[in-house]
Amino acid sequence: MPANQESPERNMGETLTHRGPLQIRLPAPDDRLDQDAEHGFVLVDGEWQEFRFHDYDRIFSVPGLYEQLFHDILDCRSPDVIAKLLKEELQQDGYAADELRVLDLGAGNGLVGEQLRNIGVGTLVGLDIIASARLAALRDRPSVYDAYHVADVISPPPEIARDLATHRFNTLSCVAALGYADIPPAAFRAAFNLVSDNGWIAFNIKDRFLSDEDTSGFATFIRRLRAEGVLELLASERYQHRRNVNGEPLHYVAIVGTKHADIPEEFVA
Ligand SMILES: C[S@@+](CC[C@H](N)C(=O)[O-])C[C@H]1O[C@@H](n2cnc3c(N)ncnc32)[C@H](O)[C@@H]1O
Repeated sequence: MPANQESPERNMGETLTHRGPLQIRLPAPDDRLDQDAEHGFVLVDGEWQEFRFHDYDRIFSVPGLYEQLFHDILDCRSPDVIAKLLKEELQQDGYAADELRVLDLGAGNGLVGEQLRNIGVGTLVGLDIIASARLAALRDRPSVYDAYHVADVISPPPEIARDLATHRFNTLSCVAALGYADIPPAAFRAAFNLVSDNGWIAFNIKDRFLSDEDTSGFATFIRRLRAEGVLELLASERYQHRRNVNGEPLHYVAIVGTKHADIPEEFVA
């Protein structure tokens, strides 16, 4: 879409233009799209480029797009909510945040890492499956992570597996990354099992993925983790993760718990 067809705020009744550091167009509130089908346009070098909300490669390649889209326009609160919930649980237990050695799974461009640094975590390692996430984190938040790896946590290359083991993680964070085509239960299990027993597990998940209508596999998986004493829930909170393009709230559940044992393979088979 050439930029010279620039529009007023509403463009042909189809998109709404949001102005900020970047110009972003989102579908006007009439579509009924699930989160992973949402899309928009961003003006880059005079050209409107289309992107899907779950096409992180494209989003991370435009500096500031992730923040402006999800946080400024759609009011995403999750990194903040998870970090605060974790901080509250640490305080209740009299545990110092600087003792935490955190693996941030699905770290993206580092917004969660930034919040974890704000609460004072000691060691922080990012892990993501796409290289553009790491590049964006190093570009936008170069001092947040002690290390940031790009790998599939289920089968990392030996040198990354060695480095992950070296950190002896006592905390896992995983924010806005479970379900849809993102992190499946098997990858969550692999990361969970890198954390020591009695470690902290802090994550969020869409409320529907914990309900009886769930098809992601997470509802049964997490019910089983709790029932079999693998994960003890310390705190959970349903909250507005962000709004969708229609302005409606998308609710997630934030969970902080204690790991008591590795997740057996059959839990994800
Ligand atoms: C919505 S972003 C969230 C980023 C960050 N946690 C935040 O809250 O700002 C989801 C991230 O999960 C990553 N991801 C998706 N599947 C993954 C997998 N199997 N293993 C690791 N990361 C994955 C994506 O590449 C993306 O960076």
